[in-house]
Amino acid sequence: MNDDTPDSMQELADVLQDVRRHLLWQEETAGRSILVDAKVAAELQQQRAAASSVRTMIARTKAPEPAAAPTPPRPPAESPSRDTLHAAMKQPLGAPRPLAAATPPPAAPRAAPAPAMLLDVPKSAPRYNGALPGVVEGERPTLDQVRRELGDCRRCKLCSGRKNIVFGSGNPRADLVFVGEGPGENEDLQGVPFVGAAGDLLTKMIGAMGFTRNDVYIANVVKCRPPGNRNPEPDEIAACEPFLRSQLLAIQPKVIVALGKFAAQTLLRDTTPITRMRGQWREYEGIQLMPTFHPAYLLRNSAEKRNAWADLQQVMKLFGKHPGSSA
Ligand code: URA
Repeated sequence: MNDDTPDSMQELADVLQDVRRHLLWQEETAGRSILVDAKVAAELQQQRAAASSVRTMIARTKAPEPAAAPTPPRPPAESPSRDTLHAAMKQPLGAPRPLAAATPPPAAPRAAPAPAMLLDVPKSAPRYNGALPGVVEGERPTLDQVRRELGDCRRCKLCSGRKNIVFGSGNPRADLVFVGEGPGENEDLQGVPFVGAAGDLLTKMIGAMGFTRNDVYIANVVKCRPPGNRNPEPDEIAACEPFLRSQLLAIQPKVIVALGKFAAQTLLRDTTPITRMRGQWREYEGIQLMPTFHPAYLLRNSAEKRNAWADLQQVMKLFGKHPGSSA
């Protein structure tokens, strides 16, 4: 058979594409900050060089593609079982990873979410079944891909009054994610979540837990400010929710803290009042989720701070942190 036939060229391109995805994935997962020895660092250097030369080969082999977003790295072939995830969650999680990666390690792949059918979702609560924005064929997106997909969003009426889209902020590889309701005036002006009075309280809560805002990731159910700080409406939540789900798929944290009823009810598809949900561990796509009060509610009801702190202490415990030492 002639090796130069279009079929064999296509096969070669496909193989190289697979290699490229694998190497890109390795590159991405290598961006963690743990100490590695010189031998491992040298191996990583070699992998990068290989990735670079494979990219060059692909560029020579393949016909030019339209300027679409690059194919995201492929996640590990198999998702861990629910039992594996539960066992992992029982271990203390240790210190949060800093944002900057000094020396990239040969990191093990992060756990992909558990298969949807295994999760405890109330029967009355329909799961989100649409395609997730920024996600290519069930693959794990990057936050950048999700942000690009959101674009200059006009999917709901909140776009008309907003000054800035408030996508989220913090460590894209955070083990701990806080989800709020939606931007207020200050957040809308700055394009950053939780920077007003409620944000100051949240920042203190995060600090009391032994983290900084750069250790964690902070996002909201809706990304644009509801006028006059009214509650987000169902159609607005429905338009924005897929982006929150994609963000969580990109980050794959170990724990989510749902701040207030909109975050908890939206993620869990559960209409139970936050007063009853708070303080009870739940599960979102294989990720431990702790519902608690929203900081803005705590500013109005300071007697509830004690309960919120008890909820956050449960989270700290999971990370092997002790309240006495930092709070
Ligand atoms: N309240 C929220 O829920 N989110 C913010 O970003 C700010 C206040």
